[in-house]
Amino acid sequence: MIDPDLETALQAALAEPPRRVRAVVLPDGRRFWLKRVERLSGRLRLQKGDPGRAFAAEREGLRALAAAGVPVAGVAAEGPDWMLMPDAGPVLTAVVADTGRGEAEKLRAFAEAGQALGRLHRAGLAHGRPAVRDVCWDGAEARFIDLERFRRARRAGFWQAADVVMFAQTAFTAWPGDPRWLDAALDAYAVSAPEGAMVAVRRLVWWLTPVGWLAAGLARSRSGSRELRAAGLTLGRLRR
Ligand SMILES: Nc1ncnc2c1ncn2[C@@H]1O[C@H](COP(=O)(O)OP(=O)(O)O)[C@@H](O)[C@H]1O
Ligand SMILES: [Mg+2]
Repeated sequence: MIDPDLETALQAALAEPPRRVRAVVLPDGRRFWLKRVERLSGRLRLQKGDPGRAFAAEREGLRALAAAGVPVAGVAAEGPDWMLMPDAGPVLTAVVADTGRGEAEKLRAFAEAGQALGRLHRAGLAHGRPAVRDVCWDGAEARFIDLERFRRARRAGFWQAADVVMFAQTAFTAWPGDPRWLDAALDAYAVSAPEGAMVAVRRLVWWLTPVGWLAAGLARSRSGSRELRAAGLTLGRLRR
């Protein structure tokens, strides 16, 4: 099935107590990620939901995206309650933070991410939570990971619009003063997304207007968080 070094590392990782995600690094430096069904205590289960269902959704999402030709981290090997994925490169937040990369490459990474999200939506799917830290960049392709909230979109338009809002929200949380990278992603998204997608985004943003007021009020308070401030920036940007 898989090569002996990988098999050894995989068996060692599987013998460890299950964690949702862990890196598996081979002696030759090749890197994989092992995802497993998390075992949660009763209280955490209430907070985070059923880990078995999340795992199943993710597996279905990875397959659906691959089948639709959307760039996604592949599955190198899998068992009933685990999947081994090849490393898809650093996540977008790490790409931006990397001083060794030029600005042109960063913009390209975000444009690819936006284009990939548009293709995902054109296939009638919704990611569920395309946070900037859940998109990997390998230098050529932006790939989605973390598809726990994937759904074959019923009311696809709504969940697809929510994907765009979520992507923007996480970008403004990470970089409140710098919309360059988000703009690159949104421009590419608008080109590759299904017709009417940006209209659906603006409609959702209109519905979320009271959330913006609430967030603005809370953001002024002492406890105002980055996320709350980002909510206002997100709604302002996507209204255009
Ligand atoms: N295939 C992959 N390629 C590169 N990095 C990955 C991959 N899978 C997971 N990671 C890394 O592990 C982190 C956690 O994985 P993720 O699927 O986002 O789970 P969660 O956020 O639910 O813990 C990611 O943010 C990323 O840094
Ligand atoms: Mg994640």
